[in-house]
Amino acid sequence: MSELLIRGRVLTFIDEPQGIDDTASYLTVDDGAVLVRDGKIVAVGDYADIRKAAPADVTVADHRPHLVMPGLIDTHLHFPQTQAIASYGAQLMEWLNTYIFVEEQKFAEPEHAAFIAGRFMDELLSNGTTTAVAYCSVHPQSVDAYFTAAEQRGMLMVGGKVMMDRNAPDALRDTPQRGYDETRRLIGKWHGRGRAQYAISPRFAITSTPEQMEMAKALVAEHRDCYVQTHLSENRDEIAFATSLYPDARDYTDIYARYDLLTGKTLLGHCIHLSDREISVLAETGAVGVFCPTSNLFLGSGLFDRDRFDRLGARWSVATDVGAGTSFSMLETMDEAYKVLHLQGQRLSPLNSFYRMTLGNARALGLQDRIGSLHVGADADIVVLDSSGKSAMELRMRTAKSLADELFILQTMGDDRCVAEVYVAGRAMKARKAGAAARALE
Ligand code: GUN
Ligand code: FE
Repeated sequence: MSELLIRGRVLTFIDEPQGIDDTASYLTVDDGAVLVRDGKIVAVGDYADIRKAAPADVTVADHRPHLVMPGLIDTHLHFPQTQAIASYGAQLMEWLNTYIFVEEQKFAEPEHAAFIAGRFMDELLSNGTTTAVAYCSVHPQSVDAYFTAAEQRGMLMVGGKVMMDRNAPDALRDTPQRGYDETRRLIGKWHGRGRAQYAISPRFAITSTPEQMEMAKALVAEHRDCYVQTHLSENRDEIAFATSLYPDARDYTDIYARYDLLTGKTLLGHCIHLSDREISVLAETGAVGVFCPTSNLFLGSGLFDRDRFDRLGARWSVATDVGAGTSFSMLETMDEAYKVLHLQGQRLSPLNSFYRMTLGNARALGLQDRIGSLHVGADADIVVLDSSGKSAMELRMRTAKSLADELFILQTMGDDRCVAEVYVAGRAMKARKAGAAARALE
């Protein structure tokens, strides 16, 4: 049984940090190590102690002086939009119609879906993201491509076929029955196979008829262990259109509440313009509001009000929302999250930021026993971060006075160049890719 000892500066969160330097919220070990066996973490602590207890022939991956952290988690993005990032000049509805509903039609082609799915997973890994929750296109073959690419890399990925039966081009519409049948079949095929997790994915109220929402409701009732994902309250025109399509609903949130789509496993993209009543409904149901800062700025959608979520006791997570989001990097995403909150007089401490990318997002998914922290028994999904990985960072980093300082510089200046290595279930993915590239050149 082969074991791997990953050596470096270990950093992992135990709970949500309260305040700027809540040292009780995290564990750091300067010369630390994580021992991995069969894809799981079997020990975490001081290198010297763990080395002594490990088999003599253990492989050591020495990443000093870099940070060894849990793999980053992205709770909302769109895999068929990988080639649509940076589409110019439009807000949500025009952007969807002009760019996205054209781009997603390409995923009827299985070869295209497979090609992009592979590149998408590699892009996540290059950025240190080991788990993500993504929308596929309306085509079941896009879901097959997505989970196949994840399985080939051993990644724990959540995803599902978008259900949409109106307000979209013919080629992107299913029907209530087809959306139901295809989703059911895909759940049967993929949910719980290896590390795959399915998300029932009605795109949003605008692209689903009440008949399709009934089908989504049935799917959710029949598959309580699946996730549910949709979009909520991103843009003023979207809100007006959605509520006009469901005149009996009290507000946008109530549309989803009426179809029992709000559960503790529901992820709601954006949640920018919600009333207190709506946020309270999220709090009561346990549904998670997903903060997508680069997307909200790029589409000019608005500013996520984190303080109101906290005050009303609602759960929230963070995500890139590629392709409205402009980067796969969770570091860049948290940099923008900081600024979005800053504009509203709110603070996001560096510790809280790193908690959010890891344990916080894992908790939002209910997966904190498996991912998001380095604890014995967890899956060995690990990122190694070089906090001076990009030019100009090294000089600035020399002046860092604390861990919080270092993390803030890393988040503000860093990107994929700061990802020194990423492990998926104990396998070094960067080294593996470099090896494959070198073999291809021979
Ligand atoms: N609302 C419905 N679909 C989408 C999408 O693909 N991206 C974003 N940002 N918002 C949406
Ligand atoms: Fe989205």
